[in-house]
Amino acid sequence: MKSTKIGIDAGGTLIKAVYVENETIHYRSFRSQAMDDVVKWINEHFKNPAICVTGGKSQVLAEKLNMPAKKVIEFDATTQGITYLAYQQEQPIGNNFLFVNVGTGTSMHYVQDSSQERVGGSGIGGGTLLGLAYLTTGMQDYEQIVLGARDGDRGNVDLKVKDIFEGDVPPISGDLTASNFGKTEAMMQRPPSNPDILAAIIGFVGEVIVTISSQMAGQYDAEAIVYVGSSFRSNPLLQEIIEMYAGMIEKTPVFLEQGEYSGAVGALLAID
Ligand SMILES: Nc1ncnc2c1ncn2[C@@H]1O[C@H](COP(=O)(O)OP(=O)(O)OP(=O)(O)O)[C@@H](O)[C@H]1O
Ligand SMILES: [Mg+2]
Repeated sequence: MKSTKIGIDAGGTLIKAVYVENETIHYRSFRSQAMDDVVKWINEHFKNPAICVTGGKSQVLAEKLNMPAKKVIEFDATTQGITYLAYQQEQPIGNNFLFVNVGTGTSMHYVQDSSQERVGGSGIGGGTLLGLAYLTTGMQDYEQIVLGARDGDRGNVDLKVKDIFEGDVPPISGDLTASNFGKTEAMMQRPPSNPDILAAIIGFVGEVIVTISSQMAGQYDAEAIVYVGSSFRSNPLLQEIIEMYAGMIEKTPVFLEQGEYSGAVGALLAID
């Protein structure tokens, strides 16, 4: 039994928990649907822990816990967590940066001198990835979906600029997507495979997010764009898409290790 501090970010899909033991941060995640598992885990592993919760489901979780819990604002906790993790990982993000949290949905924040302002968001996020994957392929397991996508070819689903400018020199890079899921004629001739569809879904989600966030970074003149959220977990394809597009606007994207735990780390730091 450990007596310690626990920071918890209870999101729409996943509950992320962090605690310090032997001077190292430990990370755990649970499905939000199985909230009772979190309560059980805490009761079994910790003795009188100091708990701080954040996230959209923190109220529900706090009510289930049979001990007091401090509550902090998610956006501020995430800002603190990102700043901490970036420092630990020696990733320079500067004093004014944009962070993009690709969770169930996507939220964008501009941070200047440690205080954040929510500057935008999109309903297109990790939940979209799961939902569209289910609707199109029937697949339900996140790990299987992201693994399957690695074998896919988006070229069988998405229409590229060069597909339109056949035999001509396009005014912009021919490799850019002209229309996500837009290769309709070809798909009708030869239906794409499930991996092709999954790769196209991840491409779609990534391109929407990188497009909006790049514009935001320009508007706010942010030094860096930090991408966090569990949607990047085991998902190199999503990261690659963002890296490719963000590279074009010369704002290097930053991906933090354990970045999906930023909110939970921020909650942990908020415990006195
Ligand atoms: N084991 C998993 N099970 C389900 N989804 C997962 C898993 N691992 C990664 N994901 C992806 O991560 C997304 C959730 O990300 P995250 O945990 O950051 O969101 P959240 O905090 O629960 O949601 P929000 O912040 O929007 O309330 C899912 O939509 C899915 O795309
Ligand atoms: Mg979240």
